[in-house]
Amino acid sequence: METRIRTINKINNTDNVIFPISDIKNIPVDILNKYELNFVKIQRKEKKDLITINQFTRWIFIWFIKDEKDEDIRIEKCRKTGDSLLSVINENKLKSVCLYDIEGNSDEVYAFAEGMMLGSYQFLKYKTDKTKEKNSLVSIKVLSEGINKKVLDELMIIAETNHKCRTFVDEPVVYLNAETFAKDIQKMAMDSGVKIDILKKKKIETLKMGGLLAVNQGSTDPPTFTILEWKPEKAKNSKPYVFVGKGVLYDTGGINLKPGSGLLEMKSDMAGAAVVASSICAIAKSKLPVHVIGLIPATDNRLNSKAYVPGDIITMYDGTNVEVLNTDAEGRLILADALSYAKKYNPQLVINIATLTGSAADAIGKYGMVGMFAKSENEFRKLQQSGKQVHERIVEFPFWEEYRELLKSDIADIKNIGPREGGAITAGKFLEHFTDYPFIHLDIAGCSYMDKKDSYRGIGGSGIGVRLLYDFVKTKV
Ligand code: BES
Ligand code: MN
Ligand code: ZN
Repeated sequence: METRIRTINKINNTDNVIFPISDIKNIPVDILNKYELNFVKIQRKEKKDLITINQFTRWIFIWFIKDEKDEDIRIEKCRKTGDSLLSVINENKLKSVCLYDIEGNSDEVYAFAEGMMLGSYQFLKYKTDKTKEKNSLVSIKVLSEGINKKVLDELMIIAETNHKCRTFVDEPVVYLNAETFAKDIQKMAMDSGVKIDILKKKKIETLKMGGLLAVNQGSTDPPTFTILEWKPEKAKNSKPYVFVGKGVLYDTGGINLKPGSGLLEMKSDMAGAAVVASSICAIAKSKLPVHVIGLIPATDNRLNSKAYVPGDIITMYDGTNVEVLNTDAEGRLILADALSYAKKYNPQLVINIATLTGSAADAIGKYGMVGMFAKSENEFRKLQQSGKQVHERIVEFPFWEEYRELLKSDIADIKNIGPREGGAITAGKFLEHFTDYPFIHLDIAGCSYMDKKDSYRGIGGSGIGVRLLYDFVKTKV
């Protein structure tokens, strides 16, 4: 994390300052001379909401907060404006900037700062000349009655873990295989006070996790199964929240090989796992008094002469026999073992998060995620509420009984694919087979990876899911 954020209680006259205002009259009199003020008025008439003035000793930015009735839309616009200004600041090589909340719009100012912090993510590991490309902005200072140090320290944690999640997604499989992924998660967990246990291939074999092992058969890299736990002394919940994340480090499709164009994003098929690890570390760093557990089954899905094939019948961790009709429906196989494993915790709720189906992405694009639930309507509504708050929105899909029938196998207990129609739902129904507790499934295939810059979500890994799970857990405090 390069950009830091902190509170201040006064500004100096050489500080670069952003003034968030709704009315031009509220610009302090000693800030602009009459020519500059006139310039602001002209720009405002042109409907500019972000106006830049270079005073040579410092820069002044006037931000007109949009008059938008719907709160979620207004706040999201503030985040996006924060990201837009961040580009201006970095283009001009500014190192520090103050956000001066003169009108008392702390919610909007917070969102603006959040947009700047999230937008400051860069993935420069593979750039030889890093200094040339590095953002210049290293310090954001906030002067606002409604924003204290605690709020900004928490924002730092949220941004840092969002960035960490995005780094995991952006790393190609040539570096990030199941084992290096687990080791990198371990580093993050140890820094955050999270307990970690990494199960290696031998142990996974002893446990007979048939789904994870079958998908791993075609790989040269062994699988891992990572267990994370944050159990604070004064936890508000007696039964834990369990998060399960899909950790497919690269999805070739296996013998049902994906076409070339379908392969381009497939290093991001572990985004669900990255969200689980990053959000639990955020919760622990903030010391939220809630007991949470993370389960991450991880492998790549490749093909060699040992790879599993369509027609195979595999025995899962819970004993279910699955007829594999498509090796590209691999995520549900590794997740099913983790979901069966979750039963031993007697969970309050299990949230599964995965880049599971192209069908979910086809339905709603990159603008949100698809959600389904069983035995957990109240929790689902609360999660949706968090989704609105942080603008990581959840669209409810039906989860009717009838879909389950589409997975009936002639010769085994269940098959791993249904028909093309309703593909995101039958995938969810497959997962539900391995659960007996309140369950929510989130399919993030559409929103976890951006192929071009999408405001503060950037390009590449978006980190979507981290702020959602963090906010949800925070409502339990
Ligand atoms: N990882 C993919 C889903 C995916 C597709 C994620 C596009 C992100 C972008 C998943 O493993 C997959 O291949 N699903 C298949 C399932 C099918 C074979 C039933 C799909 O969606 O086509
Ligand atoms: Mn696949
Ligand atoms: Zn996949």
